[in-house]
Amino acid sequence: MKVLLLGELVGRCGTGVIKNALKNFNAENGVEFTIAGGECITGGFGLGFQNAQSLLHMGIDVLTMGEKAFYKPDMVESIDKRDRILRPANFPESTPGRGIRQFRVGERRVCVINMLGMMGFSNPHLNNPFLIADSVVGRARSETPFVIFIFHAQATAEKKAMGRLLDGRVSVVAGLHTKAQTADSCILPGGTAYITDLGRCGSTMSVGGFDPENEIRKYRTSIPVRSRESFESPQMQGLLVELDEQSGFAVSVREIRLPVEVGVPD
Ligand SMILES: [Fe+2]
Repeated sequence: MKVLLLGELVGRCGTGVIKNALKNFNAENGVEFTIAGGECITGGFGLGFQNAQSLLHMGIDVLTMGEKAFYKPDMVESIDKRDRILRPANFPESTPGRGIRQFRVGERRVCVINMLGMMGFSNPHLNNPFLIADSVVGRARSETPFVIFIFHAQATAEKKAMGRLLDGRVSVVAGLHTKAQTADSCILPGGTAYITDLGRCGSTMSVGGFDPENEIRKYRTSIPVRSRESFESPQMQGLLVELDEQSGFAVSVREIRLPVEVGVPD
């Protein structure tokens, strides 16, 4: 089975990338299941309900979110009705939504687990992801060999450590959040596909998908300025993984950095 894991979709440029490139890419490469980072879509900060709906119609199967999961109030109200949007599984239990779900892909079941790292975030955690990973992954793997672990985390070391902890126990460990793709994709010794960060879908000649001018101004003046979306040099970035049909472990990994034409809206 071929699975496409996409980086953070950033703003309207990210949506344009998906709209213009995803269906063709998936058809040409035989991709059956697509996951993407969704928390930077609506104006770059959070995920609004309407944006989520349209992206799920464009061929994305699951959107995962991290520390910005509930920046848009309508996501708080609607996430319980949307099983294809995952918040971090290690958020407090009383938080709306879920962070682990199974999805049907043909005759198979794929379990997606989404967790938030600890370093650099102020979100209240109930559970250290390194402590709950054992039981969560064990349960998932007893039900299906296809287990995809999305680790929304800032520090490289934290993501690498999670990759090694779960090697040989899940199909994929893929990091998100920094919006900068790392060139370290590999198949770990136990058969797990790994990448520290999937990168972004959106403008690459930018500061995190935003127009550099305002970002530089913030650093030079300390005056808060609204970030402006950039549309320069859009790319679809992510990782294409082929999984063995029996074991669920990785057969091949390929980093994707696909230039995509996206028109600038009026
Ligand atoms: Fe994030």
